[in-house]
Amino acid sequence: MKILGIETSCDETAAAIVEDGTKILSNVVASSVELHRKSGGIIPEVAAREQLRCLLPVINEALKSAVEIDALAVTAGPGLIGSLLVGIETSRTLAYIWQKPLIPVNHLQAHIYANWLNDQRPPFPALGLVVSGGHTDLVFMKNHREIKWLGGTRDDAAGECFDKTARVLGLTYPGGPAISRLAERGDPQAYSLPRPMINQKNLDFSFAGLKTAVINLTRREKSAGRRINKADLAASIQAAIVDSLINKTLRALKKSPVKSLLLAGGVAANTLLREQLNAKCQKINVQLFIPPIKLCTDNAAMIASCAFFNFQPLFWQKIKSQPSLSIAEMVK
Ligand code: KG4
Ligand code: ZN
Repeated sequence: MKILGIETSCDETAAAIVEDGTKILSNVVASSVELHRKSGGIIPEVAAREQLRCLLPVINEALKSAVEIDALAVTAGPGLIGSLLVGIETSRTLAYIWQKPLIPVNHLQAHIYANWLNDQRPPFPALGLVVSGGHTDLVFMKNHREIKWLGGTRDDAAGECFDKTARVLGLTYPGGPAISRLAERGDPQAYSLPRPMINQKNLDFSFAGLKTAVINLTRREKSAGRRINKADLAASIQAAIVDSLINKTLRALKKSPVKSLLLAGGVAANTLLREQLNAKCQKINVQLFIPPIKLCTDNAAMIASCAFFNFQPLFWQKIKSQPSLSIAEMVK
């Protein structure tokens, strides 16, 4: 079965055709990140207008492989309402004209499906760690349908923390790649930064305190006339975020033994996180799955894959945007 996936939840406009949930036939992503870089972050109205400008050309490009598709899938939420609506209205129209089934997809669950877009088949039960710009969640997946939320961030998401602290350091948006590049030549122990909630038994995260600590530290150093070593601070920030993520993931693996760990979301592109999780999983004999970097950030192939494994089409008129959908919720 060939599904055309459409993704417009935030600042990427994407369309892809995926066969049987695993084989990518086309995968097109247009990003408005350059625009957001100029404003230092995403302005929702600007993002929505860019979605409108890019979506039809992106879909046309994805359809160039000239295959007959069997169904469409679209991100229903969570995301920015203006951006979501562009994808939803377009896919509703196409489903109506082409008379094809349309499957609404939960964007956060879809991130996990980036792990199926290759030759590997992650075994269940699985633990999913979804770390993106807007979300940080740990979920237990009994199978494709039964997903239980185990814990998540109480305030800022991991990616948001990378983005906000990068701003303090004067780095460009998005902050994750900028911090990790700079961190390569820094000392992660140079600055002592908090790892909030790391000693608590629950599976929740908190990153807002880390952001505040970085702001206070830079102010303190400035007023004392000391220069901040940006590479050292970037490495220290990255180490604090990665430590928190790994600590709670290991706790979750102890509480709910699983066969595989599925890393997903934009922050899964982080090399330190990938390497450290890999080392830990080898020790405890858990199979770790990490998507290729290109499929960690927003794309439509993951939307099509998620729709294949959770094939629940809805009549096009019933599909609505759900900007605040949470990870374990099924799209209604
Ligand atoms: O999943 P995603 O593309 O969009 C959302 O759904 O939010 O994630 C974007 C987030 C941004 O916060 C960005 O800074 C972060 O992923 N990110 C990274 C890296 N690449 C992207 N964070 C850390 N290290 C990276 N290499
Ligand atoms: Zn995302």
